[in-house]
Amino acid sequence: MKKKEVELCRYFLKDSVRLTIDFSTTDQNTGTPPPPIEKPCAEDQKKVDLVQKDKWRSIPGVDLMTAIQNRKSRRHFRPEPLTLEELSFLLWATQGIRKKVDAGTAFRTVPSAGCRHALETYLCVLNVTGLDQGIYRYRPLEHQLVFERGEEDLAEKVSNAALGQHFLSDAPVTFIWTAVPYRMEWRYATAAHKVIAIDAGHVCQNLYLACEAIGAGTCAGAAYHQELMDSLLGVDGTEEFTIYLAPVGKI
Ligand SMILES: Cc1cc2nc3c(=O)[nH]c(=O)nc-3n(C[C@H](O)[C@H](O)[C@H](O)COP(=O)(O)O)c2cc1C
Repeated sequence: MKKKEVELCRYFLKDSVRLTIDFSTTDQNTGTPPPPIEKPCAEDQKKVDLVQKDKWRSIPGVDLMTAIQNRKSRRHFRPEPLTLEELSFLLWATQGIRKKVDAGTAFRTVPSAGCRHALETYLCVLNVTGLDQGIYRYRPLEHQLVFERGEEDLAEKVSNAALGQHFLSDAPVTFIWTAVPYRMEWRYATAAHKVIAIDAGHVCQNLYLACEAIGAGTCAGAAYHQELMDSLLGVDGTEEFTIYLAPVGKI
């Protein structure tokens, strides 16, 4: 390991950067309006309404202690679809809106530094009842999916983009989280990046626990080919890029 590189990477984990920032000069404090709290989409993109929380009929619920006790990384999935209701539950558990405050702020089911929520959730859908295969994105405010793109040989492509981790091909759905860094930088400037990474951990842990409630399992994934995964999602790799993923299936 090169000493300088290691020092730089360790610096990222610390909060020393905060003392170097003049917060009076951040975009937030110089009057720039907050960026949208969810990525916009085009009017002509296909949308799919998800099942609202008060309409769930097949989500059994699970004792929290049991869910925590049983949680583990699962890499083998039964060849069975996930239902739209189950997917609705998992999306709510990971990024659902708890309370909308104003145009720039909404509390969700997970915490986020400064309530900035700089993550977007993409889904690589291979086998979900009622959904065509393809790449979708969750719209938390509307509790909807937006269809982003179809892809030939999607199962093979997602596993290739995850450096050949073949169990992604067997998962009915893979959650792929991107960061939209400016959403956090607007408030925290260069102190934004560490907390974006921390936020992603909360989201994935909720996914692990929610999976336990529906007889499903997941496995966090931080090993992937950056450019291949970004291009599979159709994101630019600069203002938005993949940071984490998790395939989900019945166990
Ligand atoms: C940040 C992070 C990244 C991970 N990346 C991968 C991965 O790319 N591939 C994989 O198979 N497992 C991955 N895992 C799962 C770990 O291997 C797993 O959590 C660990 O072995 C402990 O097992 P447990 O989750 O069952 O307790 C990752 C876990 C975390 C938290």
